[in-house]
Amino acid sequence: MFLKTFWYAAAWSNEIEHSLFARTICNEPMILYRTQAGNVVCMEDRCCHRRLPLHMGRLIGDSVQCHYHGLIFEPQGRCVKVPGQELIPPSAQLRTFAAAERHGLVWVFLGPKDIADEAKSPDHHWITDYNWGAKGTHFNVKANYMLIVENLLDLTHLAFVHASTIGNAAVVESAAVQFKRGPDSVDKNITLRNLNIITPESETSSHYFCAQCHDFDVKNQALTDMLFDDVNAAFRQDVDVFEAQQQSIAGRPDAPEVDVHGDIGGLHARRIIRELIERQLAGG
Ligand code: FES
Ligand SMILES: [Fe+2]
Repeated sequence: MFLKTFWYAAAWSNEIEHSLFARTICNEPMILYRTQAGNVVCMEDRCCHRRLPLHMGRLIGDSVQCHYHGLIFEPQGRCVKVPGQELIPPSAQLRTFAAAERHGLVWVFLGPKDIADEAKSPDHHWITDYNWGAKGTHFNVKANYMLIVENLLDLTHLAFVHASTIGNAAVVESAAVQFKRGPDSVDKNITLRNLNIITPESETSSHYFCAQCHDFDVKNQALTDMLFDDVNAAFRQDVDVFEAQQQSIAGRPDAPEVDVHGDIGGLHARRIIRELIERQLAGG
């Protein structure tokens, strides 16, 4: 199950050009492209004629032409040409999604366009703020999004998964595990921010956008690269874990799990997401 009335990161802004870019979010295949004026368009990646993925087609001006029989759709998804006939069926219309660019990312709203409020897309201003150095990337991970969420909320795995990178056995033995929900509080003179932005692709795969940001020596690209590379090495160790978990779960989905104290953050997250999905199902 996915939350549909939410903004999801679809791509880094610099990935979207005046060409067709395919991405699946919450099982919805979609194409994104930039109009000649620079605006981002997002529509379903499925021709309404015989359902060929539209990313196989091409752009003609700001419109999309399907590769199969050449139907042309304008950026609002309306079919404006059917080769070989004058009449355009009124139902020849593709679903379009609200898209917004914010802080170096393209966000897509999966709910109805008329309730899409760009101001509610998450604020990750550190990525583009000139007072910060930042570098990000995207990974297509073969794991359900909740496995990534739970991994990020669980510090006790550092001593084991990250023993060769950022881990330390003392973390798990001596640190009292606490879970706090609330605003950030940063009281050091220098700050590192590790941004983790997770977009479900399907029930068993996710898009993971991550960025490392620092507020010191911000023009030092070598420093930005080094911080990024260090965290990325640790991140790849996590990917190995939650992709293996996904395979294990697929092998026997009903196998029982035991909870331990270190799961408190992940259990809170599960409850929050479950409540939001229940509210969505109830129409709230
Ligand atoms: S499938 Fe797209 S035009 Fe026929
Ligand atoms: Fe980790």
